[in-house]
Amino acid sequence: MDLTKLLYGGDYNPEQWLAYPEILKEDIECMKQAHINTVTLGVFSWSVLEPEEGDFQFGWLEQIIDDLYENGISVILATPSGARPKWLADRYPEVLRVDEARNRELFGGRHNHCYTSPVYREKVRIINGELSKRFGSHPAVILWHISNEYGGECHCPLCQQAFRKWLEAKYRTIEELNERWCTTFWSHTYQSFEQIESPSSRGESMLHGLTLDWKRFVTDQTADFIREEIAAIREAGSDKPATINLMYNYEGLNYHKFADLIDVVSWDSYPTWHKGEEYLTAVDNGMQHDIMRSIKKKPYLLMESCPSSTNWQGVSKLKRPGIVEAQGLQAVAHGSDSVLYFQIRQSRGASEKFHGAVIDHTGSRETRVFQEVKETGRLLGNMGGLLGASTESEVAVIYDWENRWAVEDAMGPRNKGVCYKETVEKSYRAFRKQGLNVDLIDMEQSLEGYRIVAAPMAYMFRSDFEKKVKAFVEQGGTFVLTYWSGIVDDTDRCFLGATPHGLADVMGFRRKEIDGLYDGETNAMLPTDRAAAVFASRERYSCQRLCELVELTTAVPLAVYGEDFYQGMPAAAFNRFGEGSAYYIAADAEQAFYDDLYRHVVDEAQVERILDCRIPEGVEVNARQTEEAEYVFVQNYNREAVEMDLKDEDYEVVHGKKGTAIPPFGTVVFMRRKSGRA
Ligand code: GAL
Ligand code: ZN
Repeated sequence: MDLTKLLYGGDYNPEQWLAYPEILKEDIECMKQAHINTVTLGVFSWSVLEPEEGDFQFGWLEQIIDDLYENGISVILATPSGARPKWLADRYPEVLRVDEARNRELFGGRHNHCYTSPVYREKVRIINGELSKRFGSHPAVILWHISNEYGGECHCPLCQQAFRKWLEAKYRTIEELNERWCTTFWSHTYQSFEQIESPSSRGESMLHGLTLDWKRFVTDQTADFIREEIAAIREAGSDKPATINLMYNYEGLNYHKFADLIDVVSWDSYPTWHKGEEYLTAVDNGMQHDIMRSIKKKPYLLMESCPSSTNWQGVSKLKRPGIVEAQGLQAVAHGSDSVLYFQIRQSRGASEKFHGAVIDHTGSRETRVFQEVKETGRLLGNMGGLLGASTESEVAVIYDWENRWAVEDAMGPRNKGVCYKETVEKSYRAFRKQGLNVDLIDMEQSLEGYRIVAAPMAYMFRSDFEKKVKAFVEQGGTFVLTYWSGIVDDTDRCFLGATPHGLADVMGFRRKEIDGLYDGETNAMLPTDRAAAVFASRERYSCQRLCELVELTTAVPLAVYGEDFYQGMPAAAFNRFGEGSAYYIAADAEQAFYDDLYRHVVDEAQVERILDCRIPEGVEVNARQTEEAEYVFVQNYNREAVEMDLKDEDYEVVHGKKGTAIPPFGTVVFMRRKSGRA
């Protein structure tokens, strides 16, 4: 997508202020002062845009878009399908969602509609078309914001019917479905597709193949809905790019399936800052940024973030001074071409009246929040050179939605906290500590171009993942696999024979058993003599939750268990295969184990780090590339200043101070010109 500037601004809901013309005027002045250059309009405007069926009232919106345009402010225009008007729900009850217990919802809330309903699709198609005709070539409009935070599922009769058709297209015969879902278990064999019902706590919830396919269907049905929304805009003449705003750690939809439908990925980030150490929040939020970036492996947009406290989390804490700048720059560091907030002006009533905003109820531009927003806007204004800059990464961690669905539903050695995301985060964090950009890709994505791939808890092998890994290692790649990997196929049927499936030779071991540990229980991982240099800092590491027992064939042990009946058995191993290397971690090791092992892995694979100095705990390093230069971001998420040995002569400072100490929550951005091009 071609932008002309880094976008700065956020959601703006002027329909809540139409009775206050002086406020609408004042808002534009505030935006200009805060260096805001873009706002998102119309996300929840349907009842104002179409107060009666077929009666379109777009004049107010046109006026606002024109006023913004005259003031140099661009518009991201939303389609209003995220919440529908009352008349629509009253006249066409089929648009309302049915929950898993088969109760139809009442009108209310938002995101409360059926994605299958032909009526809902038709009504959305009509209003999207009207919006596209009227505003689709307005020079202020730069991007379509399709709906809002797609999510949830519907179990209505229309959705059941669509699910059955989806299954029939996938399996062709009911016998095949029975085989793949293992339905002879508990005598649940189906005789026809017509008998199938979506999973329900009142009915079937133990056929894991059914549950998985239902989730896949929900994703596909949502994708189909998105496709129709965008088609309506295109058919009515607008070719402006389109995005959907994704959510933090949202499990319900496999976001990768939307990659090809949209022009740019965007997401909404609401980290709970100051809940414990800030750097832990920064790592977690950074990982989400990288997950979003990796969906298209392209620059993306931060669509929403809060400049102050939210009001829907358990406790709503104010952001300490400096966090607005830090979180905004973190987005840009990870590959975002925008910093956008929810919202520009705080709502007067209803459930978001206390949600932080750029302009609060006082209307003042002197507030602490406004001043921080303004300052962040000013410094982003100096970073235009970064626009569209790419993120290059030689390291990937596998983060796979479908695997997550399966592993969390599996009913295996731990049902209480199998901790998939936390396990992925350990690998991610260990690479990030080495000062590396990291991609988070799923099993369908290609491994080409990577030097190191880590697959934590890759329980389900799908999409020929094991074949890709084998070729990758054969040709010289470095692969890391953890416990509880390569166990089931894509309908959650256990592989028969040796596991990790298809990789027993690559890894040089065979799985035998896996032990679930009670909360609070630990075992130890003791480095072997041959790995003493790798684990120079420690004589033992602890592990918890899951301990896998394996028999090594060609691999050599790097650590052994310290306790219990499997004391002395391998707890980590290394194998050479083809031109490459394979590492295995048998248990849920503490972070320090990952950190030490991955330092060695990165050294061995000769992956170049962004900086050639030690990175203190709590410091994030990222790099983005343009043709002319590399931009390096160094962010300190500690509550104290940190000293870093950044070599002054190599770079030009874009933001922050030359010198060594980086203040708490401070950022240094510098630029290294590419040789030969300066
Ligand atoms: C988002 C949503 C916004 C707003 C915001 C408040 O999830 O897209 O419309 O409600 O939360 O934090
Ligand atoms: Zn439905």
